[in-house]
Amino acid sequence: MRIDIVSIFPDIFYSPFSNSIIKKAINHKLININIHNLRDYGLGKRKKIDDYPYGGGNGMVIRIEPVYKCFSMLMSNRNYDEIIFMTPDGDLHSQKYANYLSSKKNIIILCGRYKGIDQRIRDNLISKELSIGKYILSGGELAAAVVIESMVRLIPGIINKKSILTDSFQEKSYFISPPVYTRPCKYKKWKVPSVLLSGHHKKINDWFLKKSSKSINRKLDI
Ligand code: ADE
Repeated sequence: MRIDIVSIFPDIFYSPFSNSIIKKAINHKLININIHNLRDYGLGKRKKIDDYPYGGGNGMVIRIEPVYKCFSMLMSNRNYDEIIFMTPDGDLHSQKYANYLSSKKNIIILCGRYKGIDQRIRDNLISKELSIGKYILSGGELAAAVVIESMVRLIPGIINKKSILTDSFQEKSYFISPPVYTRPCKYKKWKVPSVLLSGHHKKINDWFLKKSSKSINRKLDI
């Protein structure tokens, strides 16, 4: 899978992509992440990328030309399955959408900043608007990192398949993962539930099931 990220703060991705699962996926060449600094496609000597909003109002708006230029360069080299714009008013990200993305070959993720981006970009160049929750971040970079983490771990070969299938919110489970414990079995006054130490497999399975289904009423929309 190839992921092209378009952002004006490429350094934000340095840490999330240099650790754990994403680092492993990059090292194993299971994903190829390319970060493009939108400013490199800016206008004139000062590489201008934003301007005042028509009709007035606070904040600056990202102009069309740099985005169009960057996307054209990318699209002249390959076809893209999705061109995603990270925005708080987009469709809410989900495990289902992470599954969908994990099977794709090429995607672009555009990260917004400032007051927003010229609406004509959203209307004409974007195939999916995606939000990671009903709250406002200063930009789409951290949201993009969340989406990438959620889909990269689903790519075959990254982590053990059984572990993915039992993740909370996976389509077939509909449950939150049950609580887990490890040694010591008693720490200060706090004990591991005795059933887990009983060695009785049926009782243990029933307990896990009960604890998982307890969360069914909190089931998220997947
Ligand atoms: N950009 C700013 N806030 C965001 C959010 N909640 N989800 C996705 N992109 C964003």
